[in-house]
Amino acid sequence: MKILAIETSCDETAVAYLEATGDLPHPEFRVLGNSLISQVPIHKEYGGVYPMLAKREHQKNLPLLLEQTLKEVGVSRNASGVDAVAVTRGPGLEPALWTGVEFAKELADKWHVPLIPVNHMEGHLWSVLFNNGNTIEFPLLALLVSGGHTELVYAGDFKTFKILGRTRDDAVGEAFDKVARLLGLEYPGGPKISHLARLHRERSIEPSITFTVPMKNSKDLDFSYSGLKTSVLYTVKKLESLDDDTKQEIARSFEDAAIESLVEKTKQALLSHRARTLIVAGGVSANIYLREKINELKTEFEDLVVFFPQPELTQDNAVMIGITAYIMKLTSRNKPTSDIEASGNLSFNTV
Ligand code: KG4
Ligand code: ZN
Repeated sequence: MKILAIETSCDETAVAYLEATGDLPHPEFRVLGNSLISQVPIHKEYGGVYPMLAKREHQKNLPLLLEQTLKEVGVSRNASGVDAVAVTRGPGLEPALWTGVEFAKELADKWHVPLIPVNHMEGHLWSVLFNNGNTIEFPLLALLVSGGHTELVYAGDFKTFKILGRTRDDAVGEAFDKVARLLGLEYPGGPKISHLARLHRERSIEPSITFTVPMKNSKDLDFSYSGLKTSVLYTVKKLESLDDDTKQEIARSFEDAAIESLVEKTKQALLSHRARTLIVAGGVSANIYLREKINELKTEFEDLVVFFPQPELTQDNAVMIGITAYIMKLTSRNKPTSDIEASGNLSFNTV
């Protein structure tokens, strides 16, 4: 099945063309075309993503990326080689999502092919399937960490999901971005905080500034990041000056606390819910320290197989949307839809 996939939920406009073959549990994917325009240089001036600006950029970028992708693949404008169009329906920034949804609807109509709406967070989850050969054994636990979401999802098979825990306020990626701003670092802050934190760890000195690990003693699997961000704010306010060493120290202590919270809750979830596979995906799964700490769990849960997406698939992309559309087809969730709506708050088990 050849799928043209579109992603516009936040600040990346992405179009991909994939060939998907095989059945569950071993679907195979070949990416024949993949183009992406990041709006980071535009939004970074404002320190975050502006929905109406994102919408305008998606509208401008989509026709260009479609043209580029079809050319790359050698498919004619009438798209005789496309079997379905897949598009992110939510969650995300609603004006941005609508741009992709309207564009995808028009294409599916024009090409007379089905339109498959995809949940962005399910897209992050199945991004690990891009590495053909990753065998998913169920039950599966997923830690999904992005700029808008932080959730622990439990799956009994490729279509039955239960949310075990989620953030009560800010998402972990959002906390990285806000703390970066407090330290005078550019959006997106995750990679920059992570870099400074690593420099501090390499100096092998214990930080004198430390932060409490959020939700450590809560009796559930929820997360919370706004208190941690506020603690960083008060710490920064009290300083006379914010020199490079102090920035490194704060970045390190923030990352220590933020990541420990993720790993601790993942461990609690594994203790209370049997799982054979652990997937960690979403933008924050690019974080090296998180990957190290998650891999350490393998010593406690010996039979657990852990998957992360390959680095270029951690950030938003259209490949994961195409992969998920195929999983939806294989699990009979690709009901014929003529009129789909974008939904900013779409929850995990709905499309
Ligand atoms: O999944 P994603 O690309 O977009 C959303 O769906 O939100 O995630 C973006 C988030 C941003 O908050 C960014 O700062 C964070 O992922 N991020 C990181 C790292 N790389 C990206 N956070 C921590 N460490 C990183 N290395
Ligand atoms: Zn995302």
